[in-house]
Amino acid sequence: MISLRDYLSQHSLSDGLEAVLWALVEASKHIQRDISLAGLRDICGAAGHVNVQGEAVQKLDLLANDYVKKALNECGQVAVLASEEEEEYIIPDNHKEDGYVVLFDPLDGSSNIDVNVSVGMIFSIYKAVPGLSALDNCLQTGDKQVLGGYVLYGTSTMLVFTVGTGTHGFTYDSEKKHYFLSHENIKTPNKDTYYSINEGNSSSLYKGTLKFIDYLKGLTAEGKRSFSARYVGSLVSDFHRNLLKGGIYIYPGTQKNPKGKLRLLYEANPLAFICEQAGGRCSNGDIRTMDIAPTELHERCALYIGNEDLVKIAESYEATA
Ligand code: AHG
Ligand code: MN
Ligand code: MN
Repeated sequence: MISLRDYLSQHSLSDGLEAVLWALVEASKHIQRDISLAGLRDICGAAGHVNVQGEAVQKLDLLANDYVKKALNECGQVAVLASEEEEEYIIPDNHKEDGYVVLFDPLDGSSNIDVNVSVGMIFSIYKAVPGLSALDNCLQTGDKQVLGGYVLYGTSTMLVFTVGTGTHGFTYDSEKKHYFLSHENIKTPNKDTYYSINEGNSSSLYKGTLKFIDYLKGLTAEGKRSFSARYVGSLVSDFHRNLLKGGIYIYPGTQKNPKGKLRLLYEANPLAFICEQAGGRCSNGDIRTMDIAPTELHERCALYIGNEDLVKIAESYEATA
């Protein structure tokens, strides 16, 4: 088995970028342990306040956020960081002006913590551009990412990331406390397998989206069902399943929330980078999310992500609405 350390020695990243990835890896080990013991420690449930997103913050959101911030500060390679749980960007005390920009969702799928459904962490890394303000460094377009990744705390804990040379998965051995290469060069199957959308929002969905869902529910010429609906409410879990098996995850704009719910910088774009490197496509129903010029840290965007053919069919329905 090839450990992550051996893999990185054979596929060298810049020293600084590798140090940032190790910081996120170390944070994930602390988070994984806390999640696995959540029911035995007072870390389930709400923390008692809402975040900048207007969402009830869970205790584990804050714990995960603290682990990641601490690790990124200690690695000394971060120019600026921004978190779903922080209203503003943060310049770490131990920062490096020409280091890296790290944008992250420390715990994705928080509503699932208390009910033992998989959750994750998503992160997006850019090289700081000299002369840009800290905020503008955070608002680079997704195409400028140097690394996109996530950790899925699932039936097994997996790290999946890309630096633009394919998408690769590493499984965590909790006894050895190391990640090992388990899914080299993931390619998402162009197969009609799963579709993932919260149909509870149907009353507020646009016509084009409703028509696409009807298409997904249609039968083949042989009268067979094409797709199964799968939606666990953790983006990382729903995305990871479809990445490996094929299908599409959609969190569309609705009449109530025209830009949808998910965040461009630290949910859509890192997954878009991973998805495209695996042969898939990620758009907002119109253009690639990695082509969108961000205007604010917590900017939301509609998300259509999965195998290329399906995302393009979804776009054609949205265009006709
Ligand atoms: P987070 O827990 O980081 O706020 O993300 C939750 C997201 C995503 O993980 C999930 O797919 C989606 O919210 C679920 O939203 P709905 O409950 O509205 O379907
Ligand atoms: Mn999230
Ligand atoms: Mn989150």
